[in-house]
Amino acid sequence: MSINSGFPWVRPRRVRADEATRRLVREHHLTVDDLIYPVFVREGSGVQEAVGSMPGVYRYSPDTLMTHLAEVAALGIPAIALFPVIDVALKTLDGAEAANPNGLVPRVVKAIKAQFPEMAVITDVALDPYTSHGQDGIIDDNGYVLNDITLDMLVKQAVMQAAAGVDMVAPSDMMDGRIGRIRAALEAAGHVNTRIMAYSAKYASAFYGPFRDAVGSAGQLGKSNKMTYQMDPANTNEALHEVALDLAEGADIVMIKPGMPYLDIVRRIKDQFARPTAVYQVSGEYAMLKAAAQNGWLDEQKVVMESLLGFKRAGADMILTYFAPQVARWLQPTK
Ligand code: PBG
Repeated sequence: MSINSGFPWVRPRRVRADEATRRLVREHHLTVDDLIYPVFVREGSGVQEAVGSMPGVYRYSPDTLMTHLAEVAALGIPAIALFPVIDVALKTLDGAEAANPNGLVPRVVKAIKAQFPEMAVITDVALDPYTSHGQDGIIDDNGYVLNDITLDMLVKQAVMQAAAGVDMVAPSDMMDGRIGRIRAALEAAGHVNTRIMAYSAKYASAFYGPFRDAVGSAGQLGKSNKMTYQMDPANTNEALHEVALDLAEGADIVMIKPGMPYLDIVRRIKDQFARPTAVYQVSGEYAMLKAAAQNGWLDEQKVVMESLLGFKRAGADMILTYFAPQVARWLQPTK
Protein backbone atom coordinates (compact mmCIF):
# COMPACT_ATOMS: atom_id res chain seq x y z
CA MET A 1 0.00 0.00 0.00
CA SER A 2 1.32 3.37 -0.92
CA ILE A 3 1.46 6.20 1.54
CA ASN A 4 -1.19 7.96 -0.54
CA SER A 5 -3.58 5.04 -0.31
CA GLY A 6 -7.12 6.34 -0.56
CA PHE A 7 -6.28 9.75 -1.95
CA PRO A 8 -8.19 11.54 -3.43
CA TRP A 9 -11.19 9.62 -2.00
CA VAL A 10 -9.84 10.28 1.47
CA ARG A 11 -9.23 13.96 2.12
CA PRO A 12 -9.16 14.93 5.83
CA ARG A 13 -9.50 18.57 4.78
CA ARG A 14 -13.09 18.06 3.56
CA VAL A 15 -14.50 18.22 7.09
CA ARG A 16 -12.55 21.42 7.72
CA ALA A 17 -13.86 23.18 4.62
CA ASP A 18 -16.62 25.24 6.24
CA GLU A 19 -17.67 26.35 9.69
CA ALA A 20 -20.90 24.32 9.74
CA THR A 21 -18.99 21.07 9.22
CA ARG A 22 -16.25 22.11 11.62
CA ARG A 23 -18.96 22.63 14.24
CA LEU A 24 -20.43 19.18 13.59
CA VAL A 25 -17.16 17.29 13.91
CA ARG A 26 -15.83 19.27 16.87
CA GLU A 27 -14.96 16.84 19.69
CA HIS A 28 -14.45 19.15 22.65
CA HIS A 29 -16.29 22.21 23.90
CA LEU A 30 -15.48 24.72 26.54
CA THR A 31 -18.50 26.12 28.39
CA VAL A 32 -19.04 28.36 31.37
CA ASP A 33 -19.95 25.18 33.29
CA ASP A 34 -16.27 24.20 33.22
CA LEU A 35 -15.05 27.25 35.10
CA ILE A 36 -13.93 27.79 38.68
CA TYR A 37 -12.76 31.32 39.45
CA PRO A 38 -10.02 31.82 42.09
CA VAL A 39 -10.34 35.11 44.01
CA PHE A 40 -8.20 36.89 46.59
CA VAL A 41 -9.74 38.54 49.63
CA ARG A 42 -8.17 40.80 52.27
CA GLU A 43 -9.40 42.83 55.23
CA GLY A 44 -10.60 46.41 54.88
CA SER A 45 -13.35 48.18 53.03
CA GLY A 46 -13.52 49.84 49.68
CA VAL A 47 -10.26 48.18 48.63
CA GLN A 48 -9.47 46.73 45.24
CA GLU A 49 -5.71 46.34 45.10
CA ALA A 50 -3.88 45.26 41.95
CA VAL A 51 -1.58 42.22 42.07
CA GLY A 52 1.55 43.41 40.28
CA SER A 53 2.52 40.13 38.66
CA MET A 54 -1.07 39.30 37.64
CA PRO A 55 -2.46 42.23 35.61
CA GLY A 56 -6.27 42.27 35.86
CA VAL A 57 -6.29 40.33 39.16
CA TYR A 58 -7.05 42.12 42.44
CA ARG A 59 -7.12 41.63 46.17
CA TYR A 60 -10.63 42.62 47.21
CA SER A 61 -11.90 43.68 50.60
CA PRO A 62 -15.13 41.84 51.53
CA ASP A 63 -17.41 44.65 50.29
CA THR A 64 -15.76 45.15 46.89
CA LEU A 65 -15.58 41.37 46.52
CA MET A 66 -19.38 41.20 46.79
CA THR A 67 -19.75 43.75 44.01
CA HIS A 68 -17.31 41.79 41.85
CA LEU A 69 -19.07 38.50 42.59
CA ALA A 70 -22.42 39.92 41.50
CA GLU A 71 -20.86 40.26 38.06
CA VAL A 72 -19.33 36.76 38.30
CA ALA A 73 -22.73 35.31 39.24
CA ALA A 74 -24.42 37.14 36.38
CA LEU A 75 -21.91 35.60 33.99
CA GLY A 76 -23.06 32.15 35.13
CA ILE A 77 -19.74 30.99 36.58
CA PRO A 78 -20.70 28.08 38.86
CA ALA A 79 -17.94 28.23 41.46
CA ILE A 80 -15.26 30.35 43.06
CA ALA A 81 -12.15 29.34 45.02
CA LEU A 82 -11.40 31.75 47.83
CA PHE A 83 -7.84 32.65 48.89
CA PRO A 84 -7.18 34.94 51.85
CA VAL A 85 -4.49 37.54 52.32
CA ILE A 86 -3.77 37.38 56.04
CA ASP A 87 -2.47 40.23 58.16
CA VAL A 88 1.19 39.59 59.09
CA ALA A 89 0.30 40.26 62.74
CA LEU A 90 -1.94 37.14 62.69
CA LYS A 91 0.73 34.81 61.26
CA THR A 92 2.24 32.38 63.77
CA LEU A 93 4.50 29.35 63.83
CA ASP A 94 1.52 26.98 63.99
CA GLY A 95 -0.86 28.95 61.74
CA ALA A 96 -3.69 28.70 64.30
CA GLU A 97 -5.57 31.59 62.68
CA ALA A 98 -6.46 29.09 59.94
CA ALA A 99 -9.05 27.55 62.27
CA ASN A 100 -10.43 30.79 63.75
CA PRO A 101 -14.23 30.68 63.32
CA ASN A 102 -14.28 34.50 63.30
CA GLY A 103 -11.43 34.80 60.81
CA LEU A 104 -11.51 36.45 57.41
CA VAL A 105 -12.40 33.30 55.45
CA PRO A 106 -15.46 32.17 57.44
CA ARG A 107 -16.82 35.75 57.58
CA VAL A 108 -16.50 36.14 53.83
CA VAL A 109 -17.90 32.66 53.13
CA LYS A 110 -21.02 33.46 55.16
CA ALA A 111 -21.48 36.75 53.33
CA ILE A 112 -21.08 35.10 49.92
CA LYS A 113 -23.47 32.23 50.71
CA ALA A 114 -26.05 34.71 52.06
CA GLN A 115 -25.91 36.88 48.96
CA PHE A 116 -25.19 34.26 46.29
CA PRO A 117 -26.58 30.96 47.65
CA GLU A 118 -26.28 29.26 44.28
CA MET A 119 -22.61 29.99 43.81
CA ALA A 120 -20.40 27.08 44.94
CA VAL A 121 -17.73 28.30 47.32
CA ILE A 122 -14.47 26.38 47.59
CA THR A 123 -11.92 27.13 50.28
CA ASP A 124 -8.27 26.17 50.48
CA VAL A 125 -7.21 23.90 53.32
CA ALA A 126 -3.54 24.65 53.99
CA LEU A 127 -1.65 26.72 56.51
CA ASP A 128 0.60 28.81 54.27
CA PRO A 129 -1.37 32.08 54.45
CA TYR A 130 -1.31 31.77 58.25
CA THR A 131 2.22 30.63 59.13
CA SER A 132 5.03 33.04 59.95
CA HIS A 133 7.37 30.89 57.78
CA GLY A 134 5.04 30.53 54.78
CA GLN A 135 5.06 26.72 54.77
CA ASP A 136 1.79 24.79 54.37
CA GLY A 137 2.29 22.99 57.68
CA ILE A 138 3.90 23.13 61.09
CA ILE A 139 7.71 22.93 61.05
CA ASP A 140 10.37 21.48 63.34
CA ASP A 141 13.63 23.23 64.31
CA ASN A 142 15.17 22.35 60.95
CA GLY A 143 12.27 23.77 58.99
CA TYR A 144 10.94 20.32 58.05
CA VAL A 145 7.14 20.27 57.74
CA LEU A 146 5.76 17.78 60.26
CA ASN A 147 3.01 15.69 58.72
CA ASP A 148 0.88 14.36 61.55
CA ILE A 149 0.83 17.47 63.74
CA THR A 150 -0.11 19.50 60.70
CA LEU A 151 -3.06 17.17 60.06
CA ASP A 152 -4.62 18.13 63.40
CA MET A 153 -4.67 21.79 62.37
CA LEU A 154 -5.90 21.06 58.84
CA VAL A 155 -8.79 19.04 60.24
CA LYS A 156 -9.80 21.96 62.49
CA GLN A 157 -9.51 24.36 59.56
CA ALA A 158 -11.65 22.18 57.27
CA VAL A 159 -14.39 21.55 59.84
CA MET A 160 -14.51 25.26 60.67
CA GLN A 161 -14.87 26.08 56.95
CA ALA A 162 -17.65 23.50 56.56
CA ALA A 163 -19.46 24.99 59.54
CA ALA A 164 -19.18 28.42 57.88
CA GLY A 165 -21.06 26.96 54.92
CA VAL A 166 -18.56 26.20 52.16
CA ASP A 167 -19.66 23.74 49.51
CA MET A 168 -16.24 22.21 49.02
CA VAL A 169 -13.03 22.16 50.97
CA ALA A 170 -9.88 21.91 48.90
CA PRO A 171 -6.83 20.59 50.75
CA SER A 172 -3.82 21.99 48.88
CA ASP A 173 -1.20 21.16 51.49
CA MET A 174 -0.01 17.75 50.18
CA MET A 175 0.34 16.18 53.65
CA ASP A 176 -0.04 12.39 53.73
CA GLY A 177 -3.36 11.08 54.97
CA ARG A 178 -5.14 14.42 55.05
CA ILE A 179 -8.13 13.49 52.93
CA GLY A 180 -9.07 10.56 55.17
CA ARG A 181 -8.67 12.58 58.36
CA ILE A 182 -10.68 15.51 56.98
CA ARG A 183 -13.43 13.25 55.58
CA ALA A 184 -13.79 11.44 58.91
CA ALA A 185 -13.99 14.72 60.81
CA LEU A 186 -16.54 16.21 58.39
CA GLU A 187 -18.73 13.11 58.74
CA ALA A 188 -18.44 13.15 62.53
CA ALA A 189 -19.53 16.80 62.56
CA GLY A 190 -22.52 16.06 60.33
CA HIS A 191 -21.15 17.75 57.19
CA VAL A 192 -21.89 14.72 55.05
CA ASN A 193 -22.40 16.70 51.85
CA THR A 194 -19.40 18.99 52.14
CA ARG A 195 -17.36 17.86 49.18
CA ILE A 196 -13.60 17.43 49.10
CA MET A 197 -11.75 18.68 46.06
CA ALA A 198 -8.29 17.27 46.63
CA TYR A 199 -5.18 18.90 45.23
CA SER A 200 -3.97 15.36 44.62
CA ALA A 201 -1.20 15.84 42.11
CA LYS A 202 0.27 19.14 43.18
CA TYR A 203 3.79 19.73 41.97
CA ALA A 204 6.54 21.81 43.59
CA SER A 205 6.28 24.39 40.83
CA ALA A 206 7.91 27.72 40.11
CA PHE A 207 4.66 28.69 38.38
CA TYR A 208 3.12 29.55 41.80
CA GLY A 209 5.34 32.65 42.13
CA PRO A 210 2.71 35.33 41.40
CA PHE A 211 0.18 33.62 43.73
CA ARG A 212 2.65 33.84 46.60
CA ASP A 213 2.98 37.57 45.85
CA ALA A 214 -0.79 37.90 45.78
CA VAL A 215 -1.37 36.29 49.18
CA GLY A 216 1.85 37.68 50.61
CA SER A 217 3.48 34.36 51.54
CA ALA A 218 6.53 34.85 49.30
CA GLY A 219 8.26 37.06 51.87
CA GLN A 220 7.62 34.53 54.63
CA LEU A 221 8.89 31.64 52.56
CA GLY A 222 12.12 33.42 51.59
CA LYS A 223 14.59 31.03 50.00
CA SER A 224 12.99 27.85 51.35
CA ASN A 225 10.85 25.66 49.12
CA LYS A 226 8.05 23.07 49.36
CA MET A 227 9.86 20.12 47.82
CA THR A 228 9.50 17.81 50.84
CA TYR A 229 5.73 17.68 50.32
CA GLN A 230 4.78 18.93 46.87
CA MET A 231 5.64 16.56 44.01
CA ASP A 232 8.78 16.44 41.92
CA PRO A 233 8.01 17.78 38.40
CA ALA A 234 9.94 14.79 37.04
CA ASN A 235 7.39 12.25 38.28
CA THR A 236 4.26 10.74 36.76
CA ASN A 237 3.58 7.44 38.55
CA GLU A 238 3.61 9.22 41.87
CA ALA A 239 0.66 11.33 40.70
CA LEU A 240 -1.37 8.18 40.07
CA HIS A 241 -0.48 6.92 43.53
CA GLU A 242 -1.53 10.20 45.15
CA VAL A 243 -4.86 10.18 43.29
CA ALA A 244 -5.54 6.55 44.20
CA LEU A 245 -4.95 7.34 47.86
CA ASP A 246 -7.09 10.50 47.84
CA LEU A 247 -10.00 8.70 46.16
CA ALA A 248 -9.75 5.81 48.60
CA GLU A 249 -9.72 8.29 51.48
CA GLY A 250 -12.90 10.00 50.25
CA ALA A 251 -12.01 12.72 47.75
CA ASP A 252 -14.94 13.62 45.47
CA ILE A 253 -12.93 15.54 42.90
CA VAL A 254 -9.21 15.27 42.23
CA MET A 255 -7.01 18.03 40.92
CA ILE A 256 -3.82 18.35 38.93
CA LYS A 257 -1.76 21.50 39.39
CA PRO A 258 -0.20 23.36 37.56
CA GLY A 259 -2.03 22.91 34.27
CA MET A 260 -0.33 23.59 30.97
CA PRO A 261 3.00 21.84 31.70
CA TYR A 262 1.14 18.82 33.17
CA LEU A 263 -1.41 17.85 30.51
CA ASP A 264 0.06 14.35 30.36
CA ILE A 265 -0.77 13.93 34.04
CA VAL A 266 -4.37 15.08 33.48
CA ARG A 267 -4.79 12.53 30.71
CA ARG A 268 -3.28 9.63 32.66
CA ILE A 269 -5.37 10.38 35.73
CA LYS A 270 -8.60 10.69 33.75
CA ASP A 271 -7.90 7.47 31.86
CA GLN A 272 -6.97 5.51 34.94
CA PHE A 273 -9.66 6.65 37.39
CA ALA A 274 -12.50 8.15 35.30
CA ARG A 275 -13.56 10.38 38.19
CA PRO A 276 -14.32 14.12 38.32
CA THR A 277 -11.01 15.75 37.48
CA ALA A 278 -10.02 19.38 37.90
CA VAL A 279 -6.98 21.19 36.61
CA TYR A 280 -5.55 24.47 37.89
CA GLN A 281 -4.21 26.99 35.39
CA VAL A 282 -2.03 28.63 38.02
CA SER A 283 -0.87 32.18 38.62
CA GLY A 284 2.35 31.80 36.63
CA GLU A 285 0.48 30.50 33.62
CA TYR A 286 -1.87 33.47 33.86
CA ALA A 287 1.07 35.88 34.20
CA MET A 288 2.82 34.35 31.20
CA LEU A 289 -0.17 34.59 28.87
CA LYS A 290 -1.12 38.03 30.13
CA ALA A 291 2.38 39.45 29.73
CA ALA A 292 2.70 38.22 26.16
CA ALA A 293 -0.77 39.56 25.34
CA GLN A 294 0.01 42.96 26.87
CA ASN A 295 3.14 43.17 24.76
CA GLY A 296 1.09 42.44 21.68
CA TRP A 297 3.02 39.21 21.12
CA LEU A 298 0.02 36.89 21.42
CA ASP A 299 -3.69 37.28 20.78
CA GLU A 300 -5.07 37.04 24.31
CA GLN A 301 -8.52 35.68 23.59
CA LYS A 302 -7.25 33.09 21.13
CA VAL A 303 -4.40 31.76 23.27
CA VAL A 304 -6.48 31.67 26.44
CA MET A 305 -9.31 29.78 24.75
CA GLU A 306 -6.80 27.41 23.13
CA SER A 307 -5.07 26.76 26.45
CA LEU A 308 -8.41 25.93 28.13
CA LEU A 309 -9.49 23.69 25.27
CA GLY A 310 -6.19 21.86 25.77
CA PHE A 311 -7.31 21.02 29.31
CA LYS A 312 -10.64 19.69 28.03
CA ARG A 313 -8.86 17.59 25.40
CA ALA A 314 -6.55 16.20 28.09
CA GLY A 315 -9.63 15.03 30.02
CA ALA A 316 -10.31 17.75 32.58
CA ASP A 317 -13.93 18.20 33.68
CA MET A 318 -13.34 21.59 35.28
CA ILE A 319 -10.70 24.30 35.19
CA LEU A 320 -9.58 26.76 37.82
CA THR A 321 -8.50 29.86 35.97
CA TYR A 322 -8.03 33.54 36.76
CA PHE A 323 -9.34 34.21 33.26
CA ALA A 324 -12.80 32.83 34.21
CA PRO A 325 -14.84 36.09 34.00
CA GLN A 326 -13.18 37.09 30.75
CA VAL A 327 -13.73 33.61 29.32
CA ALA A 328 -17.38 33.64 30.38
CA ARG A 329 -17.79 36.92 28.50
CA TRP A 330 -16.08 35.55 25.41
CA LEU A 331 -18.36 32.50 25.53
CA GLN A 332 -21.53 34.57 25.53
CA PRO A 333 -23.40 34.23 22.23
CA THR A 334 -23.04 37.32 20.07
CA LYS A 335 -26.44 38.56 19.08
C1 PBG B 1 -1.25 27.15 48.89
C2 PBG B 1 -1.65 27.28 47.47
C3 PBG B 1 -0.81 27.68 46.42
C4 PBG B 1 -1.61 27.79 45.30
C5 PBG B 1 -2.91 27.44 45.66
N1 PBG B 1 -2.91 27.11 47.01
C6 PBG B 1 0.62 28.06 46.41
C7 PBG B 1 1.65 27.16 46.94
O1 PBG B 1 1.46 25.95 47.08
O2 PBG B 1 2.70 27.70 47.25
C8 PBG B 1 -1.09 28.24 43.96
C9 PBG B 1 -2.07 28.83 43.04
C10 PBG B 1 -1.49 29.59 41.91
O3 PBG B 1 -0.25 29.68 41.70
O4 PBG B 1 -2.30 30.14 41.15
N2 PBG B 1 -1.34 25.97 49.52
